[in-house]
Amino acid sequence: MDKLRITGGRALHGEVMISGAKNAALPELCATLLTADPVTLTNVPRLRDVATMRHLLDNMGVKTVTHGERGGMTLHAADPINPEAPYELVKTMRASVLVLGPLLARFGRARVSLPGGCAIGSRPVDQHIKGMQAMGAEIVVEHGYMVAQLPGGKKRLRGARIATDMVTVTGTENFLMAAALAEGETLLENAAQEPEIADLAEMLIAMGAKIEGHGTSRIHIQGVERLHGCTHQVVADRIEAGTFLCAVAATGGDVVLRHGRADHLEAVIDKLVEAGAKIEAGKDTGGDFIRVRASGRLKAQSFRTTEYPGFPTDMQAQFMALNCISHGMAKVTETIFENRFMHVNEMIRLGARIQTDGKVAVVEGIEKLSGATVMATDLRASASLVIAGLVAEGDTIVDRIYHLDRGYDQMEKKLRGIGADIERIK
Ligand code: EPU
Repeated sequence: MDKLRITGGRALHGEVMISGAKNAALPELCATLLTADPVTLTNVPRLRDVATMRHLLDNMGVKTVTHGERGGMTLHAADPINPEAPYELVKTMRASVLVLGPLLARFGRARVSLPGGCAIGSRPVDQHIKGMQAMGAEIVVEHGYMVAQLPGGKKRLRGARIATDMVTVTGTENFLMAAALAEGETLLENAAQEPEIADLAEMLIAMGAKIEGHGTSRIHIQGVERLHGCTHQVVADRIEAGTFLCAVAATGGDVVLRHGRADHLEAVIDKLVEAGAKIEAGKDTGGDFIRVRASGRLKAQSFRTTEYPGFPTDMQAQFMALNCISHGMAKVTETIFENRFMHVNEMIRLGARIQTDGKVAVVEGIEKLSGATVMATDLRASASLVIAGLVAEGDTIVDRIYHLDRGYDQMEKKLRGIGADIERIK
C-alpha cells in the first residue's frame, strides 16, 4: 500500500494547476447514459473514483475512450446497455448511485446495488428512492439491490414536484438527470445549490435539456423526449483549490492557483482572510486564478459546516489542520455527516490539542506539531493529514493514501512543484 513521506517546515511558493472537480465529473460521466450519441467531457481529473465510475459504465456496455493531455474522455452509451450496477463496484464508491436516475429515465428500468454504510456516516439513499417513486417508478429493495422499473409498460418517467427532507447533492443530481427525459414538468424544491450541480445542469442543457433555476434551491425542468451528444468542460475543483489554500495558509508562502474559482469558495476564503491570509482572485490571460499569501501563525477560526453556499463539510478537516497550529481556540461544528472527525485522533498523534463532543470539536492552537506516522481514514481526512505533515517538525508518514488518490489529482506532485518535501513510498 502506498504511503506519503513528508518533511515539514517548508514554505510553499509558485503555481499550481487546479484540476476538474471530482464531484462534477462523477455525475457528468453518468449523464452520458441519457443519450445514444457520443458525449465528450474535457478537464476530467485523473482520479481513482473516475476510474471506478468508468469501469462501472464499461460494465454496462458504454464505450469510453480517453484522449488528449487535458483530461478528454468520450463516452458512447449506444444500445444495448445493461442497466445494472453490481455490488462489487458500488461498494467501493457511493457516487455509483448516480446511475439510477439516468438508467430509469432512458431505459425504464435499473438494478443498482445499495451502497451500504461509509466511514463518514450512514448516508442512506431513501430520498433518491422517494424522488424516483414520485416520478412514477416502482422500486423494491431486494437482496441488497434497488430494483426499479416503470409500471404497465410505460416508456417514460413523469414529471413531479420533489421536495426532499434534507438538502442532498447526489439526490438533486439524480432527479435532474431523470427529469430531463421525463414526460412533463418537474419542480425540485429544497434542491442543493453546489456549483457541481449547476455544472451538471449546464451539461444537460448542452445535450438539449430544458432547465431553469439551477444554482438555486428551486429547479424547474421541462422534460424532453430525447437528448443528444455534446462537449462539456468539467468545472474546476473548489475543494482541491480550498485544500491548497489551507496548505499555504498553514506553511506560509505565496502561491497562485490556476483555474481556481474564488466565487465557489467564498465561505472558506472569508475564514482564511479573517485568519490573516492575504487572498486575491480574478481572471488573467491564463483564466481564473486565486493567489494566496501568508506568513507566521494565523488566528484560529470557528466555523460550522452547512450546505452550499455555507462552509463545505469537504473542507472541514483541512481547515482544522490549519487551526491546530494557529493562535487561539476555535470551535468546529460538523452538521452534515455524523462521523466526520476521524482525522482528530490522528492529528492528536501529531501533538494537536483537540477535544470532541458529538458534532463539535474544540481546537486549541499550538506552535508546532511533531511528525509521526498517521493513517488516512477517508478522502478529506487524508488531505488534512498531508497539511498537518507539511507543517510538522520532522518526518510524517501518511499511511493508506489510496483514500487521497480517490479524489486528488497527483497531489504530491503538485505540492512538490511548489516546494514541499514530499514523496510517495511503496
Ligand atoms: N441523506 C439522507 N438520505 C438521502 C440522501 C442524503 O439521509 O437519501 C443525508 C446524508 O446521510 C447526509 C446529508 O443527507 O447526512 C447530505 O448528504 P448528501 O446526499 O448531500 O451527500 P452526497 O450527495 O452523498 C456529496 C458529495 C460528498 C459531500 C456531500 C455534502 C459527491 C459524489 N459526493 O455526497 O463528497 O461531502 O455531497 O456536500 O458529490 C467528498 O468529495 O469527499 C465527499 C464525501
